[in-house]
Amino acid sequence: MKSFFSKFKNLLLIGAYKTLVIFEKLTNKGIALDFISKDYIDNPYKTYNLMRSHKPILFSQTTRLHWVTKMEFAQEMLRDKRFSVDDRKYPIAEKRRKEFKKAGREIMLEQFENPSMLKLDPPDHSRIRKLVQYGFTNRYITSLEPEIKKIVEDCLDKVHNQDSFDLIEDLAKPLPAIVIAKMMGLPNEDLDQFQAWSEDLLVGVGGIGTSKEDIKKSGDAYEALIRYFEEIILSRKNSPGDDFIGKLIQAEEEGDKLNIKEMYGTCLLLLIAGHETTTRLIGNGMFTLFNHQDQMMHLKNNYDLIPNAIEEMLRYEPPVHATVRFAENDMIYDGKTYKRGTPFAVSIAGANRDPEANANPNEFDILREDIKHISFGYGPHMCIGASLARIESRIAFESLFERF
Ligand code: HEM
Repeated sequence: MKSFFSKFKNLLLIGAYKTLVIFEKLTNKGIALDFISKDYIDNPYKTYNLMRSHKPILFSQTTRLHWVTKMEFAQEMLRDKRFSVDDRKYPIAEKRRKEFKKAGREIMLEQFENPSMLKLDPPDHSRIRKLVQYGFTNRYITSLEPEIKKIVEDCLDKVHNQDSFDLIEDLAKPLPAIVIAKMMGLPNEDLDQFQAWSEDLLVGVGGIGTSKEDIKKSGDAYEALIRYFEEIILSRKNSPGDDFIGKLIQAEEEGDKLNIKEMYGTCLLLLIAGHETTTRLIGNGMFTLFNHQDQMMHLKNNYDLIPNAIEEMLRYEPPVHATVRFAENDMIYDGKTYKRGTPFAVSIAGANRDPEANANPNEFDILREDIKHISFGYGPHMCIGASLARIESRIAFESLFERF
């Protein structure tokens, strides 16, 4: 009976969503951001391009967000202090708090009140970012190269004699997970478990059509991960190692640099941000090369082009499609008035295809010069792991080409 009601409720929700899509099409010259349509799933860029040419900042009924698909505006919003990431400050926060309370998610509520740096504005953002940056200096990341190469070779050794293998399962998933676990000082035997949690965590952020079961699974994984870090951190308090978690423990003990909740949030952020995205870069990149065989052959014969090809992969098929910013105060932007707390979806994928930023943006070209993309973000929150992701994917492509 319960499952009948749940299915019925889902059908109603999808019906309401479809009505919004029709309404959006009526108000936006036939354009709608219909996340579950085959058209959008097959080629989301077509929608972003239409949105940009209609209005570079376009309100979508289906998401209740203002979508920004023009590079100039996207960069400005990611850089400018008038746009904030801290959703605790805005009316939307009350809804989130109520949802956590209703679902009995105390740990999630606590973390919501003590978010990771990704969701913090200055001065808290700058305080935590400074600490984390110590673990990501160029010198340190470059020194990891031989170890990354060894991890890639080990992954590929396992499949070398097979007729075929699964690029995602056999290389793109384990590689960044093993690297980040090593940097953080997490035991190797926990790899499978925290990868499973990370995957479960992401099933709950699918939006419309996400089942109640998936939302629960995602919440359970989130709480399990926080408990996992809590245990590791507490057990290492007396003898912190030389790894990333050890450095965070020392910083916490030194006083006002970082509190314990911020520490859990930072660990969770690094774990999640550090591997799912790189998996997608390697997967999307290889998929795009398979669809451009001539460029694949050219790359196989010219390894020195791999770094530029990776930038083009990032631009063309970004692993993260969008990020959100809020109007810090009532404001006028591009001639329009927005109220404090108005949420904007900065469309990374849309901005990367803006013809004002890149000529012929819908063409994939590994020889493209002066590639402009915001796939690692822009401004104060720009990705801390960008150089790590670049090294991991470069070594992955080099080794794949060498062997296959
Ligand atoms: C291809 C791989 C990756 C992509 C596409 C990517 C993308 C991004 C983007 C778009 C942001 C900015 C979000 C915003 O402004 O709202 C970001 C931030 C961040 N990324 Fe990455 N990322 C990748 C890999 C990594 C790796 C390997 C790590 C660490 C191991 C990492 C750690 C972070 C952190 C800590 C932040 C937050 C920075 C801040 O708020 O100041 N990322 N990433």
